[in-house]
Amino acid sequence: MTPTTYIQQGDANQTENRLDYFQHHEGETRHWIEEDARYFLHQALSTPVMNVASRTEGAYVYDMQGNKYLDLHGNGVHNVGFSNPAAIAAVQRQLEEQLAFTPRRYTNIPAIQLAKKLARLAPEGLDRVLFCPGGSEAVEMAVILAKQVTGKWKTISFWDNYHGTTYQAATIGGTEHFMVGQGPMVPGAFHVEFPNYYRNPWGLEDKEAIDELYLRQIEVIVQRHPDIACIVGTAITSTPVVPTTNYWLRVQDICRKHDALLIFDEIVCGLGRSGRLFACEHYLTPDVVVLGKSLGGGLVPFAGIITHDKYNVLQHRSIGHFTHEKNPLCSAAALATLEYIEQHQLVENAAQLGDYLKERLLELKEAFPIIGHIEGRGLHLAVDLVKDRQTKERAFEAAEKAMYESMKRGLAFKLIDGNVIAIRPALIINKAEADFIADTLREVFQNL
Ligand SMILES: Cc1ncc(COP(=O)(O)O)c(C=O)c1O
Repeated sequence: MTPTTYIQQGDANQTENRLDYFQHHEGETRHWIEEDARYFLHQALSTPVMNVASRTEGAYVYDMQGNKYLDLHGNGVHNVGFSNPAAIAAVQRQLEEQLAFTPRRYTNIPAIQLAKKLARLAPEGLDRVLFCPGGSEAVEMAVILAKQVTGKWKTISFWDNYHGTTYQAATIGGTEHFMVGQGPMVPGAFHVEFPNYYRNPWGLEDKEAIDELYLRQIEVIVQRHPDIACIVGTAITSTPVVPTTNYWLRVQDICRKHDALLIFDEIVCGLGRSGRLFACEHYLTPDVVVLGKSLGGGLVPFAGIITHDKYNVLQHRSIGHFTHEKNPLCSAAALATLEYIEQHQLVENAAQLGDYLKERLLELKEAFPIIGHIEGRGLHLAVDLVKDRQTKERAFEAAEKAMYESMKRGLAFKLIDGNVIAIRPALIINKAEADFIADTLREVFQNL
């Protein structure tokens, strides 16, 4: 298994370790995995699957063999926990009211209430929304909005910042894995490197100096292309890398100088994950914020954009003509999700427990040379495993082993770039569960 395969596959679904793990499944589990593999189109990162879930509840996934996993991935939908009772009750109420869908030309109260609530919660100035079924589509809407309001058509985004699988979202995401073999992608899409203070190519440590070099990549493009409509990035990447405030403020300056919109994709880092309700609150107010995943409360697909009133100028065009644009069922789930986050102070929990867990991970870094770096904010953390702290060579094999060993101990996580343990539990976890994460990793690293 070459390192490239590891990187492309995230947590690789065809490695020897995966096959070995599969051998441990018996009876029903094995049967359903085989059935799944028989009927679904196979694709990297999803089919064949690793296991069969029988229940998802709170911060946990349960499999058919009765194992329970504290889930640190949740595909990003689990900010309020899986099967959240308040979100379920809201959806049930909505079904009982027999208002699960409204055809176009009708509005409905849950959709309006959701729009109003987001406008109230979002940073000042962000008060116009548009909803759609999924995150990729929401990214499309944001970019189309930017193109329409600026009258320009080119974009700048970041290599390997995943934004979805639809054509424009995949183009902007700049990840080879989602583009290769499709012929030309959307034209006019320029990419630059996302700042990385730990793994920058110059071996620098001074963050401002690093920012300068990354910013120059953007400046070189905007100087030659006056027709840039927007710069699209994740406020904090999913890896995560946390850019400096200086970096985003400078990007915003560039956008303002060149009449381009700044779009923040907060599909993963938003809705409390970073210790602020909106990740942009750590930095600035962008022109458009994109939300998704946890917006549907982990029950239904839902996503959307929030932008400024001044961009409400497209009465003559449609930028997100989706069947489920104002879906009352999805709106009810989203509304209940936002209320739950507020009532249970999940943003504060993410901030406080995130700090605590980061401290515990830093202690592990002292003890285990395999940990090259700890990064993140709130309950959006990462452990970068290296073969050597000097060379920072990625420890692919060890990371994969750590993943399977953790699963045996009831802790499930996703690897990013093949060697980075992404730690993104439900925001409802408590201190004992944060300790469980750190203690389990300690035990696993001790036995690697
Ligand atoms: C940062 C980010 N943007 C966009 C998307 C696309 O969202 P969806 O899968 O709902 O289309 C994802 C999905 O993983 C994501 O992580």
